[in-house]
Amino acid sequence: MCGIASYIGHRNAYPLILEMLKRLEYRGYDSAGIALCSQGKMKIYKEQGAIAALAESLSKQKPKGNLGIGHTRWATHGPATKINAHPHYSQNRRISIVHNGTVLNYYKLKEGLEKAGYEFYGETDTEILANYLDYWQQKNKGKLLSAIINTAPLLKGHSAFVAHDNQEPDSLYACNLGGELFVGRSQESEYFICSDKNALAGYADEYLALENGQIAVIQKDINCCLLNSSSAEELPCSWEKLKASAETLEKGSYPHFMLKEIFEQENVVAKTIDNLINDNGQALNLSLNNWRQKIAKMRKLVIIACGTSWHAGLVAKHFFAELAKLPVYCEYASEFLPESIDAEDIIIAISQSGSTADTLQAVQAAKERGASVISICNVDGSALTRTADVSLLTIAGPEIGVASTKAFTTQLAVLYILSVRFGRWRNQLKANEEKKIWQEIKMIPGKIKKILLSGPEIEKLAKKYKDYPNFLFLGRGQNFPIALEGALKLKEVSYIHAEGLSAGEMKHGSIALIDEQMPSFFIAVKDGQYDKVINNLLEISARQGHIIAVTTDKDQIIIDRADDIIPIPECPPLLYPFLTVIPTQLFAYYVARERGTNIDKPRNLAKAVTVE
Ligand code: G6P
Repeated sequence: MCGIASYIGHRNAYPLILEMLKRLEYRGYDSAGIALCSQGKMKIYKEQGAIAALAESLSKQKPKGNLGIGHTRWATHGPATKINAHPHYSQNRRISIVHNGTVLNYYKLKEGLEKAGYEFYGETDTEILANYLDYWQQKNKGKLLSAIINTAPLLKGHSAFVAHDNQEPDSLYACNLGGELFVGRSQESEYFICSDKNALAGYADEYLALENGQIAVIQKDINCCLLNSSSAEELPCSWEKLKASAETLEKGSYPHFMLKEIFEQENVVAKTIDNLINDNGQALNLSLNNWRQKIAKMRKLVIIACGTSWHAGLVAKHFFAELAKLPVYCEYASEFLPESIDAEDIIIAISQSGSTADTLQAVQAAKERGASVISICNVDGSALTRTADVSLLTIAGPEIGVASTKAFTTQLAVLYILSVRFGRWRNQLKANEEKKIWQEIKMIPGKIKKILLSGPEIEKLAKKYKDYPNFLFLGRGQNFPIALEGALKLKEVSYIHAEGLSAGEMKHGSIALIDEQMPSFFIAVKDGQYDKVINNLLEISARQGHIIAVTTDKDQIIIDRADDIIPIPECPPLLYPFLTVIPTQLFAYYVARERGTNIDKPRNLAKAVTVE
C-alpha cells in the first residue's frame, strides 16, 4: 500500500528518496511521485505506474534539492492517475504533502473548503488535507505546525503524513495519526522519514518510531523535535539503533524474492526455533514468565489475523487445543467481535508486517475490553509490537515477496512453541513430554530442506497443470488450513481461481464442481485423518477429477489413487503443516512463472494493507 520516503540533509534528496521508494515497491502501489525543494520552491514530479517510469521521465532533468518528500500511492480515493499521485499541494502551492491512510471525513472537510472558495484539481483525500492545512495556516497566520495541531483532531480515520511549507524551506513535519512513520538519523545529521523502517537500512544509523498522535519537526542542520499532536507538548526522543542491513533487501541469485524466501525457510525456521529453545532443549524466556498465573486461569484464547497470518492462526488452533487443552477461536481481524472478549481472555495477534490496519484495530478493541495481547510479528518496532502487551518475534528477516511464505512457517514455529509453554503452565503437559516435543521441532528445518530439493519435480507438475482455470485444495484437521493457504498462494501469484476446502466438507456441495477440468491438490499425509482422506480421494477420482497429492514418503496407497504425488518426510502429525505447506508454495510459484505473472508484486495486491 502507500509508502512515504522523505529526506532533509546536505545531499541531493532525489536519488536517496528514489532508492527508498524502490525499497517500498514490494508493499504495492500504482503511481509514484517526488517533490524537491530548491531555493525555497517545491517542484513536484509524478507519474502513473512504476517508479521506473518516474525515474525514466526524470533521467534528463536530474532534479535537485536538499529536502524532498516522496510517495508510492495505492489508489483509494480516485483512480491511479498522474494527477491523483502524491505529492499533493495546496491551492496556493504553498504546502505540499505525502500521505498514507485515509481521511474518512474528507468529503465533509471538502464541503467546508469549497464554501471558503477552495478548488481542487484531483479526487484524493490528501489534496483536501493539504488545503485544510493551508486554511488553518491562513487563519492562524502561524507556522505549519500550528495548522497541523489544529487539523489533527478533526481528521477521522488513520493517517500518517509528511508536510512542507515553502515559507519554511528548511523544515519538514512528519505526523502520525494512527499509521506508521519512522524518522531515521545518520551520523551526519541527515534525516530520513519513511513508512517502513527496513527501507532506512544503509542510510540511517538510528531511528525513532512516531507513535500515534506525535509530530516530528525536523529542521535542516538543527534537530528533530518530537511533539504531542494535541497538546503541542514537547516529548523526549527515544532513538533506537537500526539493525536492518541493505543486503537483506536484495534477491541475490534468485529470479524472484518469492523463490528466495521459500528457500530461506529451512534457515529462518531454525533461527526462530533457536531463539526460543536452546541447544539443551530448554525453552528460553518467552518474556511471558510473569504471565504464568494469567495463562493458568485464562478463559479462552482468541487469535486474530488476516490473510496468510490468519491461516497460521487456524493451524495454531490445533496446537493450543491439543497441547494446552484450551478453547481457541481464530478470527479474521476484520470480522472480530470485541463484545465476546473480557479481561480473563488472552489475544494472540499474528502479523508479518505488524502494520495491517484491520489487525491493529482489532487489537485496540480487545485491549479496550481489558484483554491481554501477545503479538507474533516479523517487524520489531512495528505498530503491532508497540501496541501489544508482549511480542514474540519471528526471525524470518524482511519478507519482500507480496505472497507470504517464510513468515508463515516462522509464525507456526513461534505458535507451536508457545502452545507447548501454555500446555506446561496449564498442567496439561509433563516436563518429559515437553522435552520430546522440543527434540521433534528441532528436526523440522532438516525436513523442510528435503522438500525444497524436490523443487524440479514440482516445477514439472506446474508445467503440466498451468492451464487449468480452476483448482481445489483439500485437507483435513491441521492440514485444512494448509489447503486454504495453498489455494490463496495459487490465486495470489498465478491468478488462477482456487478454493481451499476441508476434504470432509467437500461432499456437502463443492463435489458438484468435480470433472476432468477441475484438478484437486490434496494433502494426504499419514496422520489421524489418513483413512478418511483416502476415501475423499476416491470420491474425486470416481468423478474423473485429476489429483495431485502431497504424501508421506512414496505412499503406494496414495500413488495408486492419485495422478501425481509430491512426497514429504514423515513427522509427528501436529507438525505436518510445517512441511505440507512447502509444496503448495513451490507449486504456486512455478505455475505463476509458467504463466508469466508479476510474481513478487501481483496485480492489485499490497504487502502491508494499511487501510481497513
Ligand atoms: C496482505 C498480504 C498478505 C498477508 C496479509 C496480512 O494481504 O498481501 O500476504 O498475509 O496482508 O498481513 P500481515 O502483515 O498482517 O501478516
